[in-house]
This record gives sequence, C-alpha cells and structure tokens, in this order.
Amino acid sequence: MEMIQEIIPSKYQIKELIHQNTYLVNGELKKWSGKTTEVYSSIISEGENGVSGPTLLGSIPYMTEEGALEALHSACDAYGKGQGIWPTMKVTDRVSCMERFVEQMKLKRDEVVKLLMWEIGKSLPDSEKEFDRTVEYIYDTIEDYKQLDRDSAKFHKHQGVHAHIRRGPLGVVLCLGPYNYPLNETFALLIPALIMGNTAIFKPAKHGVLLITPLLEAFKSSFPRGVVNIIYGRGREVAAPIMKTGRIDVLALIGNSKSAIALQDQHPHKNRLRLVLGLEAKNPAIILPDADLDLAIDECIAGTLSFNGQRCTALKIIYVHEDVREEFNRRFSAKVDALKFGNPWDPEVKLTPLPEPGKPAYIKELIDDAEAKGASIINERGGKTTENYIFPAVLYPVTKNMRVYEEEQFGPVIPVLSFKSIDEPLDDMADSSYGQQVSLFGKNVNTIAPLIDTLVNLVCRVNLNSSCQRGPDVYPFTGRKDSAASTLSVHDALRSFSIRTFVASKDNDYNNKILKDLLDSKASNFVYTDYIL
Ligand code: G3H
Repeated sequence: MEMIQEIIPSKYQIKELIHQNTYLVNGELKKWSGKTTEVYSSIISEGENGVSGPTLLGSIPYMTEEGALEALHSACDAYGKGQGIWPTMKVTDRVSCMERFVEQMKLKRDEVVKLLMWEIGKSLPDSEKEFDRTVEYIYDTIEDYKQLDRDSAKFHKHQGVHAHIRRGPLGVVLCLGPYNYPLNETFALLIPALIMGNTAIFKPAKHGVLLITPLLEAFKSSFPRGVVNIIYGRGREVAAPIMKTGRIDVLALIGNSKSAIALQDQHPHKNRLRLVLGLEAKNPAIILPDADLDLAIDECIAGTLSFNGQRCTALKIIYVHEDVREEFNRRFSAKVDALKFGNPWDPEVKLTPLPEPGKPAYIKELIDDAEAKGASIINERGGKTTENYIFPAVLYPVTKNMRVYEEEQFGPVIPVLSFKSIDEPLDDMADSSYGQQVSLFGKNVNTIAPLIDTLVNLVCRVNLNSSCQRGPDVYPFTGRKDSAASTLSVHDALRSFSIRTFVASKDNDYNNKILKDLLDSKASNFVYTDYIL
C-alpha cells in the first residue's frame, strides 16, 4: 500500500509545537510545572534529524491525584452544595454564558480542525463536520433549554396542592470523552451538563487532547470560576481518585464498559451515582435477498469504514443472505479496494492513519485468528500493513468462534457471515452483549414488518436501507445491554443531566399570597413564570 508522500499544504503544517502547560481549575489557567507527556501524531513526517516517523505535536501535563483532587474541590465549591452561583443562576444568565462560549469557540475553527486531523487522523471534511456539528449542537441545546424553561413556567394544581415543577441540576459531573470524537462527543456531554446548572471536571480523551487548547480561554472567560475544570493525565491516575471521594454525582463517559465499570466501582455510594454512558457496540448490517445491492454496498462501505471504522455506530459485522452472498462479497470487496488511503488533508481520501500506535497490530491479530479458524481475506489489498495503517480486510466466512465475531474491532476489518434463515442473525443479536443499532437492507414489506417489530426490541435504532449513525443529533442516541446507560439527544441530554424538582404549597390564602409575592417580586430564580424569548 503506497502512502502518498506529498508536501503538506502550508495551512496544515505543524509550524510550532503546542506545549500545553496550564490546566483549568478555579477559574484560572494554572501553570503546570510537573512531569509532562509528549503528544505524537501517527501521521509520518520527517523529523529534524532527517528520519521519518510519528510527528511530535507538543506536550500536556502528566497530572496525578493531587491535581485531580484540586479540580474536584474547585467543582464542588462552585456547586456549593446547591447554593453556588451557577446552580442557582437565572436560566437566561446561564444561557448568556453558553452563548459567550460558543461565539468564542467559533473563532477557533481552523485551529481545532487542523488538530483533529493531526491528532486523530480524521479527514478534513469529517474534521470540519465534527466542529460545525458541535457548534450547531450547542445552539440547539440553548434553544431546547429555553423551550424546557418555557414549558415549566407555570403552576399545576392537584388535590388542593399547587406545584411549580422544573428540572434542576444533579451536582458535580465527571466528564470523559472518546478519542474518535474528541470534540463532538465530549461536548455533547459537557454542554448539556453545564447548561442544566451542574459543575464539571473534564478530562480530554487519550488522543485529541491538544485540540482543547485553543478553547481553554473561552472556557475560562465564559463561565463563573470552578464551573468547568479541565485536567490532563491518564484515566486511572486522575479519574479514579476523584471517584473514590464519593463526591461525583454523575459519571458521563463515552468509551467502553470496562472503564465505566472500573470507575463506578471506585465510588463508595453507587446508589447516588448517575450514569450517562455511551459504550461499545457491534452494529450488524442484515442484507435480505431482495435488497437493492447498489444501495446496500454503498451504505455498508460508509457504515464499516467511515473514519476507518472507529465509530461506536460503525457497522461491525455484516450478515448477507446466501442467495446474494457471492455478488455482495465480490462487489463489496472491489469497492473496499478502490478506497483511497492518505493523509487527512488529501483530496478524496477515505482511509487515514490510525491514531492508536497499537491498532494495526491488534487488527492483524484479529485477521490471523480468523484465518486460522477458516476465514479468508476476500479483497486483494486487505491486511496490507504500514507503520500507521492496516488496509481493511473483508473476512469471509466468519464464525462465532473467531475473535472478530465477538470483539468490537473499532478499526478497519470487516467480518462477513452468510445466513439462510433470518433467525440466525436475530438469535445472534439476542445473544450479543451489545444493543445499539442495526441496518436492515430489503424492501418486501411482508418480510420487513415483523423483522422491524423484533429488531426494535433488540437495539434502539433500526436503520432501514442505510448505515447506522448517531445523527441527526436531535434523535435519541442510546443502546441496550453493554452499549449505553441513559439517552442522549439534544433534548434527552438535558433530561439525563437533571432531575425534576419542585415547590409545592397547599392552596390557601396564606400560601397563595406568598406565591403571588414571589412571582411579583421576581426575587426567586426558580419560581417565576416569565416566557424566555
Ligand atoms: O462513536 C460514536 C459516535 O457517536 C458516532 O457518531 O454516527 O455520527 O459517526 P456518528
């Protein structure tokens, strides 16, 4: 596999290293003078010594328990046992802070997009999309929050009791995002958590860390001190000590269930801990005999290989009916082989360097295991390896005793199984540990109808004749079994990071006068019936 050794366009060249030597705590970008970790891109370039290898991008603080607890105390103080400025602030004021943040964020688009390409190898159009989608998510969140507020701006009366019901914050949130969407998925947790009045400690993902640097000033200047705290380091060294204190009210994590469980286990009061988790998945594509194969093949290419398959929503296993298996395998493999590999800024590039140094070797292990157990690589370029990549291998026939059947590969390898009876994929899905989404390809309504009725009970989104995806972000994003806990969407995230809380009073002259005075005086930030425009 040839790597295109073109000259990097000047706009995307790394001209200066980013040495991130501060962390955000107590509203201050505090100087870090301890140990640091170098940040490398897996994109190969020529170093000063003339030797080619991974590109040095800069460095980040290697923080430990002490710094982590400092951030925790800052977040707890800002929450102030519910009395802090932020959790008691007027909705309109919190909205203003968020608007200030997003306006500043927008100015950093070029810097963040460039770092997305270098740090995680995401293609230019996808990096731009990640940035723009995140900005849109923030605006949509603001709008939805206003609507939530309008809907609550009233009193209920039942059985002689008046109630003014709103959604309130939960407390202190520990927010950990994944490397494949280090901006979007992390912010899709952090932004709703903040706007609902929670305070947060946020640790960027293991890859995609430096891209937060251009946004630090915006975080610092947009929110009251201590509301957002940003720390660096390894999960087990900074997140575990925070959890151990028992002072985290919500664990918001997009990643894998192993780390989610390990962190929950540290918490001394599990019953108090709310979980907002997006975890692993093994979304299947099911191709029925009457499927439009042109469409199914295109969607399966996008589903399995967008961002090299490093998406929780990626299609990670394909079930093809035996009547169309031969044609599907042949045409699908040819399309995989035609995909262009290159650097993220290369025009038309579809496959890009893998950010995790160990990933090509891991994918190779899956391929070797499958081959040893009877599968073959059915595309010509499949499995060809370079320092930072392994070309997607289409494996057929895959069986249940293979690792690639069981494990979430999160990378470029595509297991294909054929089936005779639809019960085969259905039984496999029912037995699987995952339950996020499925793609169903076919058109006969009599076949599809009962299948849909079953599939919706096995996963949380059935994609008809299209690949799996999270967006549009207003739709619910969740999963069953090991795939998620709680639901995200612009609207649902606001619910996930809050709880219904209300003021109740018996309907009598004494109380009603107080309620009226409360409303007239506008003294309370909770009890009010204004319509926010
Ligand atoms: O990694 C999982 C992401 O939520 C996938 O989002 O379907 O928009 O790529 P996407």
